[in-house]
Amino acid sequence: MKAARQTRYPGPIAQAAKHRHGLVEQGFASDAALAEILHRYPASLIDINLYDYDAEGQVSLRTGDKGDLTGEQLLAAIQGGRLWVNLRDAQEGCPDLWAAAMEEFGKVEATYPGMRAVTNAGQLIISSPVARVPYHFDAAGVVLFHLRGRKRIFVYPGDEAHLPEACMEQVVARQTTEELPYTLAFEQDAQVFDLEPGEALTWPLYAPHRVENLDKFCVSLSMDFQTWPSRFRNGALYTNALIRSRGGRPRFTDTMSTPELAARWAASLALKRVGGLKSRIAHFERDFVPDAQAEDGAGALRA
Ligand SMILES: [Fe+2]
Repeated sequence: MKAARQTRYPGPIAQAAKHRHGLVEQGFASDAALAEILHRYPASLIDINLYDYDAEGQVSLRTGDKGDLTGEQLLAAIQGGRLWVNLRDAQEGCPDLWAAAMEEFGKVEATYPGMRAVTNAGQLIISSPVARVPYHFDAAGVVLFHLRGRKRIFVYPGDEAHLPEACMEQVVARQTTEELPYTLAFEQDAQVFDLEPGEALTWPLYAPHRVENLDKFCVSLSMDFQTWPSRFRNGALYTNALIRSRGGRPRFTDTMSTPELAARWAASLALKRVGGLKSRIAHFERDFVPDAQAEDGAGALRA
């Protein structure tokens, strides 16, 4: 029996699935390799996040600044703390790892008939043994290559209850950061995958997910990709955000044909050219500097 699609959006990936990859054997996740990457990574591309959760699973976020730490010091703060570090634009920041990962991506892509990525980008995620990432979705296809440690990924259905389109519009139009409304009741709908080094996980376009590290220091490369259909749909969501901001009631994109989606994508390009919706994501003030000696790995900001 063929398992049901776990999303209302069309696309080659109908349900979350594991794949194998060969990045670990190539030595990319050793302490020495990671310290080197952290040391020379452009500071403007490093996000250092510290998440806290209340009893209802609601999240709050503090952010850190690398300051003048060496790569080794930052690595030590991550390994002993409670930090989640994203090295964005890995395609530029760690080109050797990226080139190897693109080869692995090609193998994953080949297993899905009709899947044709037109752009790939990614982030190298280096995170503390107890770190967790809150419930969110990505406006792209994702292949998560796991390199070190163990992590548990919870993947949820891509339906209106778990992924309201009005919220997706806000994220795509950068009116909010990437969190969706979440309640603990969603947990009964989750599919759960434990990832070991050498395994990769992919899931349907937009499927909400969250991550828990399983008491081990973790390294993963999260590769996101766009296809022409995902580009069209993101553009349509952007245009719908603008229509909604002007009091309109746009239709759900899953009821739109490809020509309608393409027309709304084209409209989104024109809207962006004339200023469209101004991003409301404020420039974050940093809250701390990583410190291996400090509680949670988060030291005080120096004035
Ligand atoms: Fe994600």
